[in-house]
Amino acid sequence: MAEVNLRKIVKRYDDVEAVRGIDLDIADHEFVVLVGPSGCGKSTTLRMIAGLEDITDGDIMIGGDIVNDVPPKDRDIAMVFQNYALYPHMTVAENMSFGLRLKRYPKAEIKTRIDEAARMLDIVELIDRKPKQLSGGQRQRVAMGRAIVRNPKVFLFDEPLSNLDAKLRVQMRIEIKKVHQKVRTTTVYVTHDQVEAMTLADRVVVMNKGRIEQIGTPQELYHKPATRFVAGFIGSPAMNFLPCQLEENAGKMHIRLTERIAFPLPPDRAARYQNAKQGEKLLLGLRPEHITEAKGHAEPGIEAFDALLDVTEPMGMETLIYFALAGKQVCGRVNPNACAHDGEPLRLAVDLNNMHLLNEVTGAVI
Ligand SMILES: Nc1ncnc2c1ncn2[C@@H]1O[C@H](COP(=O)(O)OP(=O)(O)OP(=O)(O)O)[C@@H](O)[C@H]1O
Ligand SMILES: [Mg+2]
Repeated sequence: MAEVNLRKIVKRYDDVEAVRGIDLDIADHEFVVLVGPSGCGKSTTLRMIAGLEDITDGDIMIGGDIVNDVPPKDRDIAMVFQNYALYPHMTVAENMSFGLRLKRYPKAEIKTRIDEAARMLDIVELIDRKPKQLSGGQRQRVAMGRAIVRNPKVFLFDEPLSNLDAKLRVQMRIEIKKVHQKVRTTTVYVTHDQVEAMTLADRVVVMNKGRIEQIGTPQELYHKPATRFVAGFIGSPAMNFLPCQLEENAGKMHIRLTERIAFPLPPDRAARYQNAKQGEKLLLGLRPEHITEAKGHAEPGIEAFDALLDVTEPMGMETLIYFALAGKQVCGRVNPNACAHDGEPLRLAVDLNNMHLLNEVTGAVI
């Protein structure tokens, strides 16, 4: 097993700069997920680590050695793709053992490794079947098994679950996590699905347009996003952004949303934002769970207001509500018993202890 380090990695295809100078240090045993919208450079980055793409500039290190010019087969990595690329004429066992047989491993060693991986992945009964006799999820397991038996320094996954239906995806996500807990191999995993990223990763790398926007644990990215892009990308339903201004009123800092609605800031927030200019164009970032039905009693940092609901979506354990505020559609999450109905008013409360304030022009979180 090994750490992986990327130093100022650039990838240019003619006039397209797919990756624009990425620095990333992945620790031994760590599970890192690269996430971002289509075309942001995730696969390109992964393929450069694998050695399947040349790098235009920078250095890639695996286990402390620069591997820029090392061919893929000598990098001691195993890659799992979206299309599992199993050999159709080989059985599960033959598919899994293919790489080891090429490298002339002893037969007994191959058998031990396959038995162990098959047990770990719960495919012992399938070992003599051909790929076409397997379900999508089972094929996915075989592809993972083929990577595991090689006992590589690093696992590389490129959207391995995107061919599976939603239920199976959730199931396989848990399987991948279990496998990583057992083998603890350093893993770089690519997905465009932020839920998959959050649930699998020790650390998430959010990419946008060939650059890294932010690196952090799932909790850090969710609660302390650094930019508007990250704040809007992580979390579903997405964070609401409302144009606002700071103003001082009777010695207290307020955040003004509309002519009618302004909320006093909690003391720690007022201290944090004291250097922001009054009247500057700002955005208030509020996650839907921080816009709920108003409770009877006052709590510090929780401010009530009246809204006219446009649409409500009962989800079972909660009801999503949509209403207009400061010219924007806003989403909140209320208790299913909160009497939220389409077209009716509801008294709501915002939790400003969990607010975010962003510079509207730069998108930076203040
Ligand atoms: N062989 C190539 N030649 C030219 N441009 C390419 C090539 N491969 C990728 N690109 C471009 O590089 C950028 C990054 O592509 P990449 O495949 O890394 O995106 P991605 O983040 O994996 O997206 P997706 O989620 O759609 O898989 C894209 O703009 C893409 O069009
Ligand atoms: Mg891709």
